[in-house]
Amino acid sequence: MVTYTRPERLVVLTGAGMSAESGIETFRGANGLWEGHRLEEVATPEAWRRQPDLVRRFYNERRRNLMHSLPNAGHEILAHWQAKISVKIITQNVDDLHERAGSKDVLHLHGELMKSRSCGPNETTRRMKGWEMTAHDRCPDGFQIRPHIVWFGEAVPNMSTAMELVKSADCLVVIGTSLQVYPAAQLAFETGADVPIHLIDPDANSLNQMGAEAWPMKASEGLKKLDNRWFGSDQC
Ligand code: OAD
Repeated sequence: MVTYTRPERLVVLTGAGMSAESGIETFRGANGLWEGHRLEEVATPEAWRRQPDLVRRFYNERRRNLMHSLPNAGHEILAHWQAKISVKIITQNVDDLHERAGSKDVLHLHGELMKSRSCGPNETTRRMKGWEMTAHDRCPDGFQIRPHIVWFGEAVPNMSTAMELVKSADCLVVIGTSLQVYPAAQLAFETGADVPIHLIDPDANSLNQMGAEAWPMKASEGLKKLDNRWFGSDQC
């Protein structure tokens, strides 16, 4: 019988595949287009300057879809682990499904769909009550608001905190990310020496450039197996 040591300081890096079982489409899936636009055409500061209505509509649709979505079994497992070990989640996702499943320690690298941000110098953020952002919406200081999203070409403010978390982990689980978008993807390569990495993704075998243990399956399936390995009575 092989036994596996459960981690004490687990860091989890999640991407769009984490929320796929909640009905939220991944970015680089089948056609990767929204109304004929590539993501890079609507998720940039240039798009916001040139076509703010289009950008607002894009995120309004994402927000409305999110409000009808629920955390899946994978989100729930990660939230349950908090009662047993330290779990820090670094997510590229802008949805709030980790939080809605009960996870407390969630660092959003690419912003949060359910928040708006002032276009003024203070860049204050506010939680949105509904799905719709309109051209007339202003924050209390009078400035226009924009989606609280890190667009292509913008800095990733939480990157240095994320890097510190990964370096202090005694285990890293990477879930549902194609590892194509930097700097976030770099995190998968920043663990300390001999720190085990688990990669859960249907494409795990081809994505595995970091010597991880590959779990080529959906997020909830891989997490159930890890849960059983670390916390089940019948350790495999
Ligand atoms: P991608 O769409 O690039 O990759 C999604 C990954 O999820 C792929 O590797 C799929 O194989 C995998 N996948 C699909 N279904 C899955 C499931 N049920 N369980 C587990 N994995 C599954 O999404 P990201 O890598 O997250 O940025 O994309 C990174 C960033 O690109 C996003 O944060 C977004 C986008 O531009 C912004 O919006 C700023």
